[in-house]
Amino acid sequence: MANILQPTEENLRDLRKFLLFGGLVGVPTETVYGLAANAFDAQACAKIFEAKQRPANDPLICHISSVEALEQICYANPLAIRLAERFWPGPLTFVLPKKDKIPGIVTAGLDSVGVRCSAHPEFQRLVAQCDFPLAAPSANPFAYISPTTAQHVEAGLGSKIQFILDGGPCAFGVESTILDLRDESQPRILRYGALPAEEIEAELGRSIEKPAATSADESVQHLAPGSLPKHYSPRTPLDLRGGIATSELETLPPETAALLLAKPQQDRGKNVHWLSEDGKLSEIAANLFAKLRELDEAGYQRIIAEEAPELGLGLAINDRLRRASFR
Ligand code: TXA
Ligand code: MG
Repeated sequence: MANILQPTEENLRDLRKFLLFGGLVGVPTETVYGLAANAFDAQACAKIFEAKQRPANDPLICHISSVEALEQICYANPLAIRLAERFWPGPLTFVLPKKDKIPGIVTAGLDSVGVRCSAHPEFQRLVAQCDFPLAAPSANPFAYISPTTAQHVEAGLGSKIQFILDGGPCAFGVESTILDLRDESQPRILRYGALPAEEIEAELGRSIEKPAATSADESVQHLAPGSLPKHYSPRTPLDLRGGIATSELETLPPETAALLLAKPQQDRGKNVHWLSEDGKLSEIAANLFAKLRELDEAGYQRIIAEEAPELGLGLAINDRLRRASFR
């Protein structure tokens, strides 16, 4: 079992030291919990791959504490600086050319690195105390549902790690948006995430390239090696629907769970679940992974779930649901 630690000054100081000497720590961010190691320490980062059973060709995101720290690990360009100043700290990851200080294992041999500055206050305090960046993928066993509480991290990786920093439930509940900025003239979204693409486009005053709304956009899979068609998946088979009709809820077999976007007007029985009171996308995203875990543990034989509207956060929610349903 891992120790779940509260973010006291003393604990943060100890965790910094533990990380400096090559330890792994479960950490909160505003998107999902991460599994962190000193990004300058190749051996420590190798332990992340081992603990998660993650394939070595799936690169890790590095977490830094400020725009200025970009220079520590990558070659930034004016567009990256501008977007960092606008959206950091926050749920936006850039892909930029890496500096030699970042070991190849972190980037899965790529010459670019994913970099982000999280807005989670306690995690920020930890990163700011470290004079090294923290490589941290989501803290789930490979391909399983991402964790949004310290208890989720304990459930999935508790036997493999010693410490988890408790920062409460994650505010956004889906991972950061990943933006490829290697070519300034052609910014491109590689993963839909907690920062809606529309907000980046509004800032830039133009539209940018985005992944297709499918779990198997091969052009993106090639650019972001972790975007596999099957991911975020409960063990219980999940079927995704454009919508779920009232008539279907009325005849739902007891071994099937229905997962609706919003609370139904009428009570529909114990196997009908919902992600929000009234369909608000931020609430749906915040509850998504925790609800999928709950249904996965409840002994159902099947889950049917409803797609969100294809806009704003809905794109990230549907991306996760599509991959969760992939068989
Ligand atoms: O919100 C988040 O981004 C969370 C928290 C913990 O920060 N992290 C996260 O990491 O989602 P992870 O490892 O689950 O997903 C990272 C994905 C990789 O699978 C890969 O597709 C992409 O980011 N990625 C990372 N570095 C890359 C690079 N250099 N080039 C292209 N894609 C990269
Ligand atoms: Mg992940």
